[in-house]
Amino acid sequence: MKICIIYHSETGNTRHVAQHLSSAFDSKLIEVSETASHSQLTRFLVWCKMARGEELTKIRPESIDVSDYDLVVFGSPVWAFKPTPAIHTSITMLKGCMGKPAVAFSTHGGRPGQTNEIFKKWIEARGMVFAGVTNINQKDVENVKMNKELVALVSSAIRV
Ligand SMILES: Cc1cc2nc3c(=O)[nH]c(=O)nc-3n(C[C@H](O)[C@H](O)[C@H](O)COP(=O)(O)O)c2cc1C
Repeated sequence: MKICIIYHSETGNTRHVAQHLSSAFDSKLIEVSETASHSQLTRFLVWCKMARGEELTKIRPESIDVSDYDLVVFGSPVWAFKPTPAIHTSITMLKGCMGKPAVAFSTHGGRPGQTNEIFKKWIEARGMVFAGVTNINQKDVENVKMNKELVALVSSAIRV
């Protein structure tokens, strides 16, 4: 079973969880990042507005093909109660994903809001089979129990 983990992270929390997951499964790890740079002063508001509107953005890498993988995992910070524009864009432009199972996770500051249903909506809109989602509070990114739960979720998706 080949797993591809695609994640976005600005301050490292989601990256930390993604790297832990990757080492548990020896999977492919792809970090997506926004190419636009925003002023430090205004970016929080700009990011929240974009996330609220479920907007797309320009990301690197420009193209991701998961044809060679059996399971796709998406990881995102929560912004304004939703996954980020960068992870939204990665799902929207993903190649070779039709019919594949997909799991998602977020890291957040205590209020994940609509993140789970939005992830499900975006994943199913691309013809993937939604196989579960979980949220990890930023204070728990090094918490062994929380990371084990995510590993268990991915393991259960493998067995489906
Ligand atoms: C623009 C912005 C909006 C955020 N909105 C939320 C939110 O709605 N709910 C929440 O629980 N945390 C929110 N956070 C906190 C992040 O989700 C949290 O710190 C996350 O772990 C960051 O992930 P990263 O380190 O991988 O970038 C927000 C952070 C930023 C920068």
